[in-house]
This record gives sequence, structure tokens and C-alpha cells, in this order.
Amino acid sequence: MNDDTAPTSPAGDWAPATLAASGLGWVDAATRAISPPMHLSSTYERDVDNGYSSGRVYGRADNPSYDQPEALLCALERGAGAALFASGMAAATAVFMALRPGDHVVASKVMYWSLRNWLMTAAKDWGLEVELVDTTDLDALRAAMRPGRTRLVWIETPANPVWSITDISACAEIAHAAGARLAVDSTVATPILTQPLTLGADIVMHSATKYLNGHSDLIAGALVTRELDEAWTRILGVRAQHGGILGSFEAWLLLRGMRTLDVRVRAACRNAEALACHFEGHPLIEAVLYPGLKGFIGHDLAARQMSGGFGGMMSIRVRGGEAAAIAVAAKVRLWKRATSLGGTESLIEHRASVEGPGTPAPPDLLRLSVGIEDPGDLIDDLEQALAAAGA
Ligand SMILES: Cc1ncc(COP(=O)(O)O)c(C=O)c1O
Repeated sequence: MNDDTAPTSPAGDWAPATLAASGLGWVDAATRAISPPMHLSSTYERDVDNGYSSGRVYGRADNPSYDQPEALLCALERGAGAALFASGMAAATAVFMALRPGDHVVASKVMYWSLRNWLMTAAKDWGLEVELVDTTDLDALRAAMRPGRTRLVWIETPANPVWSITDISACAEIAHAAGARLAVDSTVATPILTQPLTLGADIVMHSATKYLNGHSDLIAGALVTRELDEAWTRILGVRAQHGGILGSFEAWLLLRGMRTLDVRVRAACRNAEALACHFEGHPLIEAVLYPGLKGFIGHDLAARQMSGGFGGMMSIRVRGGEAAAIAVAAKVRLWKRATSLGGTESLIEHRASVEGPGTPAPPDLLRLSVGIEDPGDLIDDLEQALAAAGA
């Protein structure tokens, strides 16, 4: 982190909305620019005494363009350090690659499918012993722990694509009692709704591609650590050595996107809540999966663990099964039929088609990433798609 640009303002006392909108209040020391310059250099000059007093040697991964977005994310998550990666997958896999072959890890059965696939294939080939459990069931998690051998517990909450809620504090206690660390994929909650490090987690992971950036125009990942410990040093080593680094322009765009994080997340939460309430009990819909609904399993825990809303992600199970669900997705006009989540625009997707065999997504499930459009327009479009599909 370059202290020349560090603020003199009391950012530590600021609310998340202020931290984000002001970008921590940083001003470029060299130019007094409010929006930071983008640094493109791949290498840095040595001092006359052969040292590197700048703290930077080579652009994999010393990059001044990371300083402000990493510091902002760190402040939002209340961590001790943050690191940007080329993608969410690069960030997540770095946490596992920083372990040692033979280490045992326990992870949620319901999680981002591509990471689950990687854990069950490449991570196992590399030597990790991976066990998937239902982490909403704390007894199941306890039973899976092997004290002294389990090094990491990985959870996602709310979890793709059924939005199940895992108790972060309880998992931290269980992990720590067995000598393991807890990592949380908090992509869907964002630091606006949940701050896992304050609940005892050791590492938070984000696909910054999603809400952090918020405009569906870059791929990025991030990790935030509670402590600057040996595990964190190993993770930074993986980033520098494997080279999964973010480009300077993407880091700059990400900071710009994060400035509106608070307003975007709150608007998406309001819209998702309106949609969930409207479609709950709808004659053409079997079930609405949204942690904000009182009848949702995990609602009470979500209400304790999340503050300010239940997120912008929800799913609907369409009456009539898989064919009916796919037909509804084909009939939308305003919603975009695409994968991903967390952008300003609303997306709809038949999730089982994406995830393939072994998916926990029921065949009749459509995943909805609710954007920040007018909620009435979103409801009208989904209503006409349901009617047009004859679901
Ligand atoms: C919850 C979650 N975690 C991780 C990832 C992976 O992130 P990326 O696509 O940025 O590699 C995704 C991507 O969809 C995701 O939804």
C-alpha cells in the first residue's frame, strides 16, 4: 500500500455508504486527482543502495492500481489486508493452493458449481482431501471435522442457486475448535449486508465480477483476511507465483464500480423483496426461494446474520417442470437470459442447464439476479413470460 495517497480523513469511523462513495476519501498525492491515475508499468526502479524503498519490484503482483480498491474492500469488510485477483475463481483457488498436499478440507455441498467441480477434480489430483457436507447442518459439519488434519472449512452464504443460509459464527467456532480456518464466499451478501470477518471468519472471498463491480463489464476476484498471518503470506505467494493478477484497467474499473456498491445493493434488495412477495403463492410458480421470505428455511438466521436486506438473488421453481422453466426464460423481454449476477440489469437463467449432472439445482429452477430497474417493469415482464410460456 502506498502511504503517499493514504487519506488524512477519519475513514475508520465512516459508514459503508461513505467509505464506498468516497473511495475512502483518497486523493492522488502527485496530481490531486480525485479519481486515481491508472498505473501500467510492469517494473519498478531500484534505489542506489540496491534496495526497493517503493516496496514494488515487478508488476506480478506489485501494482499501485490495486492500492485504493484493496484498501476500500479491506475497510468495508473490516479486515487486515485485501488482495485482488484475475477472477473469483483465481481468488478462491489461491486459498486452497496455499494449503499443502494431504490437507483435509470441508466445503459446502451447495456452492458456486465451478468451484465445487474444481474441488472434486483438480484439487483432489493436487493432493487435497476434499469432503462436501451440508454446512447448514452444524452436526454434519462437526462430524466431518478431523481435528489436526482439517485445515480449512469453506462455506458460501447465501449459497447458489437455492440461497441456503449457513451460520458463519457457528462454523467459525467449529472450524477453530478443530484447528482449521474458515473461509466464506460472500459474493452474494456483499460487505453491505454481511461482514463475515466480524463474525469470526478468517478469509472472505468475492467474485468481484458481481456486485462489487456491479456493471457486468469485468472479471475480477478478491480476498480479505482477518489477520496478516502465515496463511495470508502463502496466499499472496500463490497470487504472485501463479500470476493470477488483475489488470490495471480492471482494478480501476472495479474501484469506480465499488463507489456505488451501497446504493446498488440496497436497490437490488428492495426489488428482490418486492418480486419475492409478488410471486410467492403465484398459481404458475411452485416455490419462491428467497431468504427474505418468512417461510424460507434459514430466514431467521439470515435476519440475524444479514443487515439491511437479504440480497438481490432469488430463484423460482416453475410449475410444469424443466420444459416449462426453460420456456419461461425464453419469453422474457426486459430480463436478459444470461448467466452471472450482481449487475444493474436483471438476469434470468435455467440453472440446471448450466451446472449439468450432479447439480443441486432442481430442474424446474430459474435463477434470478434482480437488478436495479423499476420493480413494476420486472414483475410485468416475468408475468407476461409466465403467461406466454403457458407455464
Ligand atoms: C458465488 C460465486 N462465487 C465465485 C464465482 C466465481 O467468480 P468468477 O466468475 O469471477 O471467477 C462466482 C461466479 O459466478 C459466483 O457466483
